[in-house]
Amino acid sequence: MAKQILVTGGTGFIGSHTVVELQNNGYEVVIVDNLSNSKIEVLDQIEEITGKRPKFEEFDLTDKNKVKAFFNEYSNLDAIIHFAASKAVGESVEKPLMYYSNNLNSLMNIMECMSEFNVKNLVFSSSCTVYGQPDQLPVTEQTPRKEAESPYGNTKSICEDIIRDTVAANNELKGIALRYFNPIGAHATAKIGELPLGVPNNLIPFLTQTVAGIRPELSVFGDDYNTPDGSAIRDYIHVVDLAKAHVVAIERLLNDKNKANYEYFNVGTGNGVSVLEIIESFERATGEKVPHKIVDRRAGDIEQIYADTSFANEELGWTAQSTLDETLSSAWKWQTNIMETEK
Ligand code: UD1
Repeated sequence: MAKQILVTGGTGFIGSHTVVELQNNGYEVVIVDNLSNSKIEVLDQIEEITGKRPKFEEFDLTDKNKVKAFFNEYSNLDAIIHFAASKAVGESVEKPLMYYSNNLNSLMNIMECMSEFNVKNLVFSSSCTVYGQPDQLPVTEQTPRKEAESPYGNTKSICEDIIRDTVAANNELKGIALRYFNPIGAHATAKIGELPLGVPNNLIPFLTQTVAGIRPELSVFGDDYNTPDGSAIRDYIHVVDLAKAHVVAIERLLNDKNKANYEYFNVGTGNGVSVLEIIESFERATGEKVPHKIVDRRAGDIEQIYADTSFANEELGWTAQSTLDETLSSAWKWQTNIMETEK
């Protein structure tokens, strides 16, 4: 019988791509999402891509009674991938309690139900933000975590601790945290992708909207960093590569290949790329010009971070496959597709 996976936040950006990969690998998926930052139409798109419509339940995971009722109804879950969370760094500084309340309570409600309803396996969406500005690059899983730069970042660190401690207290449970670097791009069909609400904060959606003429120009936040071209460096990973990392993490748990009950992995490409290099690569890959200007650094940004991915490569047998040009082309194809549909 097909294994059943609960994907919280499954209509979101990374969640929807992961649902596609899970269904393509024969898993049965049930999505829980409160649609606070995503659209129900994503289910149609997933169905178009995979030929299968995932089950869907709309509710808020901070509502403990609803979470319990859900676990009562879905009594054959094999594993959970927990994406559902608030993720805007700036907003988290303005509304810290909302971030702590949403991100911590939903995880705690899920973990309480895992113990109560005997669901053993959890994969959690963590972030490279837990490393802060690391003293050494690239970062390995042994690189110490640092005090978070934002309440959002802190929720990721605290959630990792909640999983570590809960799993340590209950031998039946197993958890894997995936520390994502910067997920970008979209599915090759351009049927699903990132749908930012309002003015995007993140680089790639702002860039593609600029090229599309929705924004006048892209601001490059700082060219005076201690990097080869002065702009900040990140490790940009294709969202489909990232989605595939979740499938292998699930397989590791379901096949008892994990070496400890709680494990965490860096999920990036291993390549550090600057903002100016992103612009160059985008222009090369798409033939489009990116209108941009250099402005001051953005408050709270770190100078550079990129992953050492050897642990994920060796232990999960997973490596990011897409080139940066392919990834940026997919983001552009998605942007042009959204505009076509909106016409
Ligand atoms: C941040 C968070 C990350 C979170 C992600 C998604 C940190 C350290 N990282 O990533 O955990 O998952 O947001 O919300 O908190 N840039 C510009 N112009 C723009 C936008 C961005 O130059 O208009 C630059 C930034 O300065 C940065 C790079 O592009 O150097 C990437 O920025 P962004 O896409 O916002 O992601 P992060 O801040 O790296």
